[in-house]
Amino acid sequence: MISLREQIEESVKYIRKHTKMRTEIGIILGTGLGGLVKEIRKEIVLDYDEIPYFPISTVESHHGKLIFGTLAGKKVVAMQGRFHYYEGYSMQQVTYPVRVMSYKTGLGVKTLLISNAAGGMNPEFRRSDLMIITDHINLQGDNPLIGPNDDELGSRFPDMSEPYSKSLIALADKIAREKKIKVQHGVFVAVQGPNLETKAEYRFLRNIGADAVGMSTVPEDIVAIHMGMRVLGISIITDECFPDTLQPVSVDEIIKVANKAEPKLTKIMKELVRRL
Ligand code: HPA
Repeated sequence: MISLREQIEESVKYIRKHTKMRTEIGIILGTGLGGLVKEIRKEIVLDYDEIPYFPISTVESHHGKLIFGTLAGKKVVAMQGRFHYYEGYSMQQVTYPVRVMSYKTGLGVKTLLISNAAGGMNPEFRRSDLMIITDHINLQGDNPLIGPNDDELGSRFPDMSEPYSKSLIALADKIAREKKIKVQHGVFVAVQGPNLETKAEYRFLRNIGADAVGMSTVPEDIVAIHMGMRVLGISIITDECFPDTLQPVSVDEIIKVANKAEPKLTKIMKELVRRL
């Protein structure tokens, strides 16, 4: 069987036939949060389907794309469309693109910016707030690092004392202050989904120390840390998950709120990229 490293090399070889761009910044955009992509001056766009060893998309209608270009004067690679665990992908598949992006074996990425849509459980939070992720809890019941470890990619037991970069958080805070955009801070918990949580589950997740809940980001963060990258994660709070007053919510509403709040996220991310 071909090793993970060989797979990554094959993927990178294919990408390198199309672009020699060395990108130090990687971007993964969450549900309803594609606005930043519009700001990228594109050099080349590859379909995930054409890249060897990239996971095959399960949703026919929506082909993911890997975008290479310039944002605020910096060379970036962005994932338009991410893989979720609840779609049936393995954790290794969900995180494969992060490995391909990385500076160690791949395209050159040292800084990874991740966004997602999340439910707010901290009672101070309101719909359409931004939350800078300061830490996380993995409740997905699986881990992308399970299996043989390639020591050249990263440590068998990676340290997780700084899963989200303190210096990137400080920079994002500074930019938010300058731009007068209110930001919250908090712990993000990742669950499997795809259903939203029950009241009892929200109560539980709040009690174990989480401020927001979602179905992504944690696997990508773990792999990024494994490969020595630094990460900034920002959640858009799309629904208020307070157990005692919980209202039904649909995915359409979640996407609507994400779309509405997204310009704030785009402003911060773009300025952050400029200053990196
Ligand atoms: N739970 C899980 N994932 C989510 C939620 C939620 O309430 N809102 C947006 N993504």
